[in-house]
Amino acid sequence: MTQDEMKRLAAEAALDYVEGGLVGVGTGSTVNHFIDFLAKIKNKIEGAVSSSEASTQRMEALGIRVFDLNEVGDLSLYVDGADESNHHLELIKGGGGALTREKIVAAASDKFVCIADGSKLVEVMGRFPLPVEVIPMARSYVARELVKLGGTPVWRQGLVTDNGNVILDVEGLAIHQPRELEQLINNIPGVVTVGLFALRGADVLILGTAAGARRLEPV
Ligand code: 5RP
Repeated sequence: MTQDEMKRLAAEAALDYVEGGLVGVGTGSTVNHFIDFLAKIKNKIEGAVSSSEASTQRMEALGIRVFDLNEVGDLSLYVDGADESNHHLELIKGGGGALTREKIVAAASDKFVCIADGSKLVEVMGRFPLPVEVIPMARSYVARELVKLGGTPVWRQGLVTDNGNVILDVEGLAIHQPRELEQLINNIPGVVTVGLFALRGADVLILGTAAGARRLEPV
């Protein structure tokens, strides 16, 4: 089974959590499969709140109504992918550059169902470079601060986020205390959001594997 087929399996299994109303929708190739499945039951839901322009475009093209988060209250469900998850369902996200809006929609949702292929589950996060969204004028300053934390920041050149900012991908971290690191990095002036989702991690992780969709809850 290919990695993409595993992503599709996880995305399909997340439909079990859709109970109508408004669904928070993340970003990425796994979520794209979820959007395609969601379109098939679009008459059962009121619509979606999106975490990126890319997901908005895909949903609108498939006839799913997309609402601004400011127009709606808290959401019952958020479905999104991840770049890495540990067994506590603390995550690294932002490989697609949508981390800030993803973190906002996750925070506004009662339940966060994370969907991924089996390769995303790790013992210690950090092999995947940790994305940090940064105000453009602060890029070099924030990079120097990230070096002090033991990482090697690499500017994701050519990428401007939906919020008009830049991304630094921090290599070389072994993240043993994700909550502490999330707070530390978020407190650097110029940082908009770090792609660590530990203070608000996932409630359920659905992994697509060759043996089927596997559901995990935080240990
Ligand atoms: C985007 C994300 C994605 O959820 C993450 O990069 C996983 O992507 P994919 O489903 O394509 O593997 O955080 O900002």
